[in-house]
Amino acid sequence: MTAPQHHHDTLRWGVLGATSYIATHLMPAIAATDGCALSAVASRPERAAAAAELGRRFGATVHRDYAALLADPGIDAVYIPLPNTGHVEWTLRALAAGKHVLVEKPMAMDEDGCARIEKAAEAASRTVMEAFMYRFHPQQRRAADILASGEIGELRLVRASFAFRIESGSDNIRLDPALGGGATWDVGCYAVDAPLLFFGQAPERVRARFSSRPGLAVDTSAVATMDFGQGRSAVVDYSIDYGPRAAYELQGTHGTVMVRNAWAMDAEDGVVTVLTQDGVREETVPAADHYRLQVDAFARAVRDGVPAPMSLSDSRRTARVGSALVASAAAGGAAVETSDDAPEPR
Ligand SMILES: NC(=O)c1ccc[n+]([C@@H]2O[C@H](COP(=O)([O-])OP(=O)(O)OC[C@H]3O[C@@H](n4cnc5c(N)ncnc54)[C@H](OP(=O)(O)O)[C@@H]3O)[C@@H](O)[C@H]2O)c1
Repeated sequence: MTAPQHHHDTLRWGVLGATSYIATHLMPAIAATDGCALSAVASRPERAAAAAELGRRFGATVHRDYAALLADPGIDAVYIPLPNTGHVEWTLRALAAGKHVLVEKPMAMDEDGCARIEKAAEAASRTVMEAFMYRFHPQQRRAADILASGEIGELRLVRASFAFRIESGSDNIRLDPALGGGATWDVGCYAVDAPLLFFGQAPERVRARFSSRPGLAVDTSAVATMDFGQGRSAVVDYSIDYGPRAAYELQGTHGTVMVRNAWAMDAEDGVVTVLTQDGVREETVPAADHYRLQVDAFARAVRDGVPAPMSLSDSRRTARVGSALVASAAAGGAAVETSDDAPEPR
């Protein structure tokens, strides 16, 4: 639990890193959200021009480096879209500076990193949330509501399939093992999160097989299974070798709910398909900007001092399961235990 921290009516945001993609989606979302202001941005010093460009575009102060932004008393919250290897370090530094933090997925590449963040957030009485934007799209809520209504019976199987292709030879951070690259800690985060979200718990054990495109030093495709006990399973695949896909299916004892584009952008309607013995029904969920809904939910959690909707224990679970997939793949697909009653991290 965090205490309300509203010294100002407006939550003043700073962004660490002038990214090529994600910050350019999050920054307009911050600027457009009631009660939020996009106040500052910082790049590494050698990329000052990139930060200056974003600063101009959004009317934000430009700091000379990330540390200078964190030292700015006029900033209440920071958004961290750095390479995966920077997430734990900069989240801890931001908390130490008294900021609330929205950090890109994965919050950490092991459970211990999430545990350290949880402890620091508690000590600082600040909100930290991992940025799983797709969770905020109303089509995911609709799928959960249909499941809760009992229409498809008891949930037995989640199939999740997430992919987009990255060409070899590009300088994408996802191809660099030193920056936490690879499919598992990128699209794999969604393939792990979706089954955990809909089953509402961690699996008991997982098995995974990874492959790497020739010439690349990171895992690029994976298939995995998760055992949730009592005959409940997830079958997931994810890849940076294949064309785009962001689909999941919730199969119950009496039917199936399918979401074929869990990443629907703000100009696309969501589509939820329900298959039962009565036939097939397709529901359209009006287009929504999940980035903006995410920023709004985070700002409310800060303002009202209530837990963020993507909880730190959810983040810990996804990190634990992601690590277990890595361990299983390294052991040739052997089962790795992941249950919620696994020993606490140190
Ligand atoms: N939720 C989503 O929809 C979504 C979408 C895309 C990405 N993401 C997440 O966002 C994060 C960033 O992904 P991205 O595709 O936006 O990456 P990117 O364009 O490569 O941006 C990463 C930024 O990190 C900073 N950085 C610091 N140290 C770096 C280093 N050693 N090498 C490269 N950049 C470094 C750079 O900012 P400066 O040069 O300005 O310092 C760079 O612009 C990842 O964790 C990813 O998982 C989420």
